[in-house]
Amino acid sequence: MTTDFDQVVDRAGTASLKWDFRTEKTGMADILPMWVADMDFPAPPEVIKAVKSRAAHGVYGYTGHPKSFFVATREWFRSVHNWEIKTDSIVVTPGVVPAINLAIQTFTRPGDKVIIQPPVYYPFMWAIENNKREIAFNPLVRTGDTWCMDLDDLERKIASGARMLILCSPHNPVGRVWTRKELEGLTAICRRHNILVLSDEIHADLVMSGHRHLPLEIVAPDLNERIITCTAPSKTFNLAGLQVSAIVIPDTELRRQFSGAMKSVGLGLSNPFGIVAAEAAYRHGHEWLKNLLAYISANHAYLVKFCRGSMPWARPMPLEGTYLAWLDCNAAGMDDEELTGRLRRNARVWLDEGPLFGPGGEGFQRMNLACPRTILAEALNRMAETMID
Ligand SMILES: Cc1ncc(COP(=O)(O)O)c(C=O)c1O
Repeated sequence: MTTDFDQVVDRAGTASLKWDFRTEKTGMADILPMWVADMDFPAPPEVIKAVKSRAAHGVYGYTGHPKSFFVATREWFRSVHNWEIKTDSIVVTPGVVPAINLAIQTFTRPGDKVIIQPPVYYPFMWAIENNKREIAFNPLVRTGDTWCMDLDDLERKIASGARMLILCSPHNPVGRVWTRKELEGLTAICRRHNILVLSDEIHADLVMSGHRHLPLEIVAPDLNERIITCTAPSKTFNLAGLQVSAIVIPDTELRRQFSGAMKSVGLGLSNPFGIVAAEAAYRHGHEWLKNLLAYISANHAYLVKFCRGSMPWARPMPLEGTYLAWLDCNAAGMDDEELTGRLRRNARVWLDEGPLFGPGGEGFQRMNLACPRTILAEALNRMAETMID
């Protein structure tokens, strides 16, 4: 069983954040949404079957986490990433963003510095600011079409007293899959300063051919008691609405503290559909994921070709991982407000504007490629009209 990724599924009327809130958020009912990171594809057929079967049961009472869920998660990471997770290291949360917020609350104090590497997934910034901590930017550096870490600056920022580093691996939005050498450079610094690292690996499975995601724990096994890894089946299998994430915390004391924070806000159970969906995805999703990655890779190739031929002001960065294209639009010669305004008003396409992602995002737009090719083609044809007054 697989999915026909070319088939357009009408998501209207499902309370979809992407499709059903267009008028409310942009004032345009017909704008094409290519911003938020969920996919327009149905989940794998085995997942749909498992959720339907659970729904047919009819009783939806309080739901815990069965052993089979932990085993399926462990087997997935063993078979796909060669990573041995002990099942009792896993804490289940209703999402990675809640876990990041809780980790900030648990392991840092108000006023502490937390390092992030912009341009980066903007809820990292919100999590730090909403919890009254201070953002310390360790900006990525652009060399040609590649974005790299500035490790000298990272060491300075850590040495200046930061308490925590949030790593995005693979990196949203620049599309990098960090190499062993890069991660070893980073962990060498973390080792010297004993800083706590939260490694957000939600995009771990979304890696294009020729690249390999390395869980941070594999790169630095000796640092495991200082690493928290956020994983989830939600990006990989389009289950974000079902809200299940597995946070891996090998250190007993850190895990105890984190679990205490969960209890303090009354978290600890899951919704029944999330659990069965995650388990089915991890048990049966290998082949589906292979087909998905091939489709996304072909969408990226389509985008590159289109930009070359019809939209030279937009230059897509290479896509090593994630399904999010990072478009350099500096050649358009406009400031961000004008460019975003034109994309929305003239082209009626809704992308995430670069500055949302922090320093370094200026002049860029992020575009979600996880959609049928006809939708991508429609968005690109519309975007080609952006510059027409
Ligand atoms: C790096 C990263 N972390 C976390 C999330 C969202 O996590 P969740 O929906 O589990 O809160 C996203 C979604 O795009 C993401 O890109």
